Amino acid sequence: MKAVQIHEFGGLDSLRIEEAPAPEPREGEVLVRIHAAGINPVDWKTCAGEGVASRLEDPFPFIPGWDVSGVVEALGAGVSDFQVGDAVCGMVRWHWGGGGYAEYVAAPAADLVAKPDTLDDPQAAGLPLAALTAWQALFDTAELQAGQTVLIHAAAGGVGHLAVQLATWKGAQVIGTASARNRAFLRELGVHRVIDYNETRFEEVAKDVAVVLDCVGGEVQERSWGVLRPGGMLASIRGRPNAEQAAAHRVRAQHVSVRTDPPQLRAIADLANQGRLRVHVHETLPLDQVRKAHEMSKTGHIRGKLVLRAG
Ligand SMILES: NC(=O)c1ccc[n+]([C@@H]2O[C@H](COP(=O)([O-])OP(=O)(O)OC[C@H]3O[C@@H](n4cnc5c(N)ncnc54)[C@H](OP(=O)(O)O)[C@@H]3O)[C@@H](O)[C@H]2O)c1
Repeated sequence: MKAVQIHEFGGLDSLRIEEAPAPEPREGEVLVRIHAAGINPVDWKTCAGEGVASRLEDPFPFIPGWDVSGVVEALGAGVSDFQVGDAVCGMVRWHWGGGGYAEYVAAPAADLVAKPDTLDDPQAAGLPLAALTAWQALFDTAELQAGQTVLIHAAAGGVGHLAVQLATWKGAQVIGTASARNRAFLRELGVHRVIDYNETRFEEVAKDVAVVLDCVGGEVQERSWGVLRPGGMLASIRGRPNAEQAAAHRVRAQHVSVRTDPPQLRAIADLANQGRLRVHVHETLPLDQVRKAHEMSKTGHIRGKLVLRAG
């Protein structure tokens, strides 16, 4: 099969388009013919030896990519949840394996759900990792409730634009930061107050919020302590929040690391099926333009998701 592989950690030059043996589904696994593979920043971070590189089971050759959408091609022993021909999507082999930037992947059946009918393959491939991250940060970590106000940093990004929709579905008031060109996009998604971070310091507008979802880190995280109300929660998917700062501001803070969670992924797919969660695809590129795709992702200015087309 055609696959993107790396043979050592490195930059864009380490990404090679190669022929690789098609995987065989083992017990409990499903062989998926991949139609589209979603790109996440952790993909290029891991290729560079960061991200989840230290947690890969068997690094080289490594096929990057955790988010896929495609069709079930074959079943391993003991799989009864799917049939050959089913359209599926999922965050597969997280964080130990990857394998999404290819024509086929053999993935644990539990990593997959039926592809929502409302989403095409690129959209479905953009959903799992980012939506699970948003769900776990907002609902598991921050326990966001209806009527509360949440400030979402990088609201137009892969995680952010799904977090906005999950938070409004929950009945929260959403403040989102982005540059001016994403203002209309965020209003359309349901953000109540959009802050152009080039124009306005968010702490001048956001006050006494219950939850901050930090998808940016660094200086943005440092400036976020003061916008939380006492007892509020800073959930960071970037750097680890400083516990002393949290205590000094009488708020809570936690770093979130996305994890596989089949019931949550099913709930997310259900929301997509109901039309309550849509995935904005910035661009879909063919597999052999993976270097360009990573270069684009590295700019940090993707709206929604970038996707590779495998077939
Ligand atoms: N811990 C975890 O489990 C976990 C899970 C998923 C992702 N992450 C990490 O979280 C980060 C975000 O992930 P992602 O997939 O959402 O990334 P992404 O899609 O690449 O984010 C791009 C977005 O960031 C916005 N942005 C850039 N600088 C900003 C700033 N200073 N203030 C506000 N918005 C800004 C951009 O908006 P403009 O173009 O308008 O600037 C763009 O829409 C990445 O570092 C990723 O590795 C961690």
